[in-house]
Formats: sequence, C-alpha cells, structure tokens
Amino acid sequence: MKPRCYRVAFLIFCFCLSLNLWSQSPALNSPQVEKRIDQLLKQMTLEEKIGQLNQYSQGAATGPGTGRSGYPEMVSKGEIGSIFNLTGAKETNQMQRIAMEKSRLHIPLIFGLDVVHGYRTTFPVPLALSATWDPALIERAARIAAKEASTDGVRWTFSPMVDIARDARWGRITEGAGEDPYLGSEIAKAYVRGYQGSLDSPDSIAACMKHFVGYGAAEGGRDYNTTEISDRTLREYYLRPFKAGADAGALTFMSAFNSLNEVPASANLFTLRQILRKEWGYKGMVVSDWQSLLELKNHGIANDDRTAAAKSILAGVDMDMEGNIYHTEMLDLVKSGVVPVSVIDESVRNVLRVKIALGLFEHPYADDTKSAFDGPIPAAYRQEARKAAEESFILLKNDNAGGHAVLPLTDVHKIAVVGPMADDAEDMLGAWGAKGNAKDVVTLKSALTEYASAHNIAVTFADDANSIPADADVVLVAVGENASLMTGEAGSRTHLDLPGHEIAEAAAKSGKPVVLLAFNGRPIVLTDVAPKMNAILEAWFPGVEAGPALVETLFGVANPSGRVTASFPRSVGQEPLYYNALSTGRPATGVDLTHPPTKSEEKYHTRYIDEQNAPLYPFGYGLSYSSFEYSAPKLSAASASAKAINAGDANAAIKVSAMVKNTSNRPGDEIVQFYIRQRGTSVARPVRELKGFQKVTLAAGETKNVEFTLSRKELAFWNIDMKEVVEPAELSVWIAGDSVSGTPAKIEIKP
Ligand code: NOJ
Repeated sequence: MKPRCYRVAFLIFCFCLSLNLWSQSPALNSPQVEKRIDQLLKQMTLEEKIGQLNQYSQGAATGPGTGRSGYPEMVSKGEIGSIFNLTGAKETNQMQRIAMEKSRLHIPLIFGLDVVHGYRTTFPVPLALSATWDPALIERAARIAAKEASTDGVRWTFSPMVDIARDARWGRITEGAGEDPYLGSEIAKAYVRGYQGSLDSPDSIAACMKHFVGYGAAEGGRDYNTTEISDRTLREYYLRPFKAGADAGALTFMSAFNSLNEVPASANLFTLRQILRKEWGYKGMVVSDWQSLLELKNHGIANDDRTAAAKSILAGVDMDMEGNIYHTEMLDLVKSGVVPVSVIDESVRNVLRVKIALGLFEHPYADDTKSAFDGPIPAAYRQEARKAAEESFILLKNDNAGGHAVLPLTDVHKIAVVGPMADDAEDMLGAWGAKGNAKDVVTLKSALTEYASAHNIAVTFADDANSIPADADVVLVAVGENASLMTGEAGSRTHLDLPGHEIAEAAAKSGKPVVLLAFNGRPIVLTDVAPKMNAILEAWFPGVEAGPALVETLFGVANPSGRVTASFPRSVGQEPLYYNALSTGRPATGVDLTHPPTKSEEKYHTRYIDEQNAPLYPFGYGLSYSSFEYSAPKLSAASASAKAINAGDANAAIKVSAMVKNTSNRPGDEIVQFYIRQRGTSVARPVRELKGFQKVTLAAGETKNVEFTLSRKELAFWNIDMKEVVEPAELSVWIAGDSVSGTPAKIEIKP
C-alpha cells in the first residue's frame, strides 16, 4: 500500500471505530450484504415489507394472544417475518417451505424460542450460572443450547437476559447474572459467543439482548412495574451489559415492558434511537417484547392501536412480537404519511440483515432426519451440565462439628434425607425450561441411592422431619421454591423466606448435624434458619444433572467454588440491596448495628433501627472445602496520570497483584476478585466496584500470583458533565475473596 492508501485506510478505520462499527459483527456491517438488501427492497411491495416486521407465537403463551390462527396462509402472502414457539425440524420446515416456495419473494422465516439455560439439556438457571463466575463454561453451555435448538429448526433465542437486578423480590432475577455490570458484561459476551458461534453455520442461533432497558429496576420488585433510573445510573450500570453484547456481535435486541422515566421502553426514542442506534451504531434488529407495543395503550401514551404502532416504529422497534398492530395499522400509517416509508425500509433492512447473517437464505431448512430428542442426552452434554451445576453451587455455611467440617461428608453410614425437593424432577429445570423434560432429570434421590448402594451407606427418604432414624449420622434437608410459580416472569414475591424452612427447623431439633440444600431461583432470606443449620449449600435449580452434581459435591468429589452474584438479604426490608452502593453523607462505619441505637451518635446514621445494613451473604461471597489466604495488594506504581490514561497510554496503566495461597490440604478453585473505590471525583462513586476477576485452581498449599490491570476501561466513569472519563482521584484497590473483605492499597490518580 502507498502511504496515501494507508492514510485513507486509517481514516476509515477511525471513522468506523468512532461509530462503533468495528466492534460489532462483520455480518452486520458488510457492503455486499447491504447491496443484497437494496436489491430485495426494490422488489418488495409495501405490504411485503411490513410483513417482515410481524412476529407471531405458535402455541405457548406468556401473555394474552392475538386470537389469530391461519399462519400458513399469512406466510404464503408474505405477511409474517418470524414465528416463535414452533419447534422441531419437520414442523419448522413445513412452515418454512410455505415461505420459500409459496411466498412471492421466497424470504425465509426466522424461528425463535426462549432458549434461556439450555434447549433440551437443561443447565442451571442463569443466576446460578453467573455464580460460577466462569464465562468460558457459560459459553460452552450456550453452544450446546444452540446446537440442540438449531437441530430442531430454532435459529433465534430470546437470551441472554442481561438486566441488572438489585432486588431479589423480582422473580426474573433468576434469568440474569445478578447485580454487577462488570461481571454481567463478561457473562453477556460469553452467551453471545456461545449462541452465535460462527454465525452463518447451521448450528448457530441469533442472540437477543433483553430487556432493553431498565426492566430489572421494577419498583418494589413487582414484575412489569415502572422504573425510574437517572441517565448516569442507566449508563453506568444498566446499559453496560447491553453494550458488551452489542460489541460482541449480538444480532438482536428486545425492547422491554417497563416504562423508563415515564417513557415506555418499547417506544423510547432516547434509549432506542439515541443510545442504541446513534451512539452505539447498532445494526441488528430490535424486536418488541410480547405485545409490549400494544401495551403502550395501558401505559397511557397511545389511545388506539394506530398511535401505538406509529410510536413504536418511529422509536425504532423493528418487529412487533405477537401484538398484531404492525399488521393491522402500518399500511395505512405509511399511506397517510404518518410513518415515512424510509423508516419501514430501515426496519426491514435490520430484519433482513439478521436473516442473511444467519445464512437463512442459503440454508432455510433444518435437517429433518434429525431431532434434539433422538436418543438420550449425549454424555458429553451431561458432563457439561454437571460441571456447570457443581460450579454454580455456593457453600454458604460449613460448621466444624467434632473437630472437622460437616461437609464434605466423610465417615457416614446412614443418611436421612427429608424434604420434597429430593425427588422433584420438574423443579430442577427452573423457570424458562425451554424443551427441558423432567424425564431427563436425575434427581438427588436417584443419584444418592445409587451412590449409597455402591458405598455401603444406608439412606432414608421422607418429605417431613418426623421420621428421622435415631441412628442417622447426618440429615440432608432438600427444600425450596416452586420454580414455575415463584420464579421467572410474573414470579415476584414480597416474602423471601425459603419454602420448607419449617422442615429444616424441625430437622434441627433431631440434634443431628443438618445440611440444608436450598433450591431457589433468587437470593432468599435465611436469617432465622441459617443459625440452626450446620451447613448450607445453595443449589439453585441445577438442571438435568442436579442429583449427580449434588452427590459429587456432598461427598467431596467436587469442591464448591460458586460465589454470590446477587446479595442475600437479612430481611426483605433491605431491598433493593447491592454491594456497589454509594456511601451516603452519614455512613454507619464503626457503628454497632446489631442492636437498636441507644445514643444519638448511633442513631443519626444511614441505618435501620431493627436490622443491620449488610446482607447476610454479600456479593462475591462463598466458602470452599479448601481455605485461601491473600497477601496485601502489590502495585506497579503508586500513582498515575488521568490525562495519560484518558489518552489511552498503555504505559500509564497500573498493575495490581496479590499472592493467593491455598492454605488447606485439598485442591480448590478460588474466584479472585478485584475491586476499586474512587474518592474526590466530580460525582460520588460506589464504596466498591468490581473491575476484574480470575478463577484460579490451586493445589493444596500452592500459591499463585494473580495480577490485574488498571487502565481507562477500569477507571473511567460518567462524570458530572456526562462524559465517560478518568478523573483525578484517591483510589483504593482490593484483591479479595468477596466484596467486603481484603486489605486496600492506595493509589493516587493525578491530573
Ligand atoms: C415475555 C418475556 O418478557 C420475554 O423475556 C420473552 O422472551 C417473551 N415473552 C417471549 O416468550
């Protein structure tokens, strides 16, 4: 290349970077693809264009339906762009054949489904997966889900749900990665990579970043409720995982149900047009949530379907999920000049780009000699599901009794298992089980029975604690939430007690060591029950390999390494509860919060008079059968220049490291966490923020040096002028095993 060409190439590169184009999927930014779409658009009638913007559900419903049927005829007329909840290679092919052979322009349909934590091979629920702090594992789980779903004709999943959730009352907290934007972003990228694979290969499925945006901040934790989020909080927390997903190449986004700062998210020009399209340069497709466009009427910003449809498309929602209002209203809206045809063209372009990216025009059909249900679940998939479950378990408590820890179980001859969850296959699938089948689940009862008979251990099972044998060595209590009723969509609760806790409390009266196995989809309140238990294993809803994973963990074949990603409250009254909070002007540091205030200096602090401020189990917390020790952080420099870091000077970055030692005689995994706090900045920053983590495996007695970097990415925040920059600050850094422990080191960020 001649120097001039270099310069031109460089300028184009900078331009693309400034538009964020480079970071997104190349398939969304290809001139050839755009040309191909131009050709198609030229041939399409207005009716056919609008047809691409309609999506209908065949079968399952998560809200009121349209009352429509007769999709085959609509497809033949080019009136539908996507169908969801239709699965099976034969079934989808049959519908696809109508689109490919009978519709005038032969544009393929795209079939969608909520493949949230597995298709047939059900993995632990997403909140549990986040507790693994293992993006590579999550990517592999998503890849397996994509392979199975695509075998059955599904090429689009409505996942990942990347809503930051700070309130455990919200049932949908189970579908996401918890409260932290850094961890949430790493996990978001992992899902996208896993689902989309190499994109145009037949086993790739499009990811969908949902729910854009702010849905997780529902007031009072009540599903679908109003959200009020400042622009800074929106950008600093709620938007980050979405941006990470867009940058990783996610092909689609879903607009949310909630109203955000008085404007419903599905008609929100600021988030959909300004942020997503303009600032991020996003070229994928935006689908509404289930009838969320029609619901603009209930929100009160449209008095009829026509206005709702107009507001939605003008705000940038390309596809109407099950609302039927683009179908009934759009033609007239365009003809009467309310909606410019250029807006329709842009939306159709977004839809076609996704279909082209997936290679659907070339390979519209699934191989109908195959099904995800041919034979049993492959052993390799089961192994991944088991590993995922084991890594997701959080050991919340593990007492020493008689000189050794209660878990792992050693030297037991008789085990009493009580509680209904021990043999409950259905609940192990969690919410949004896709095509997961209870028949594929190995329960605790079946896995433990097999293990016990091979190891000469007697086991008894009962649903209550009345018949614990007198000679039992230990009692396992398996209780928890009803997955479909109490968790997931429309599963909000105001009481966060653990259903079945009374069984655990009764078992404690037996005087034997009691291990609580808690099955739940959200952080629960264990304040009263925890002191009565000798050990607590948070098991979540672990999926098809629930039983084997639990048995391996109970007997120490697997060593728990899961860590909390959404704070476990002491009391529901503490919600919303999250670790990365601001200090307030009257922090309660140094105040004894375990009793009501007795004098005024104890009273006039940010506190409750009847409960502590801290969660029962904080973000990042989790025990192991091993034990770990951290050295104080070591710094490559004690100061840095904000100016140099802002300019992207790699030499200005600081390295922070610590020695982490396994002080036990058992190998184990530790999740080493890196936190910062900035003081003296133009806006208040959280008391701690996660800026890095590494999962390290340490042999007994082994020590490893774990290093993190502080650069622009870790230090920049949305300042008083709403610019994302690094400011001069007094910085504290921690390398620790959770969000509340560790020794800080100080760094000065100079101007
Ligand atoms: C409503 C839910 O909010 C959304 O997450 C889901 O993808 C759609 N229904 C489709 O089932």
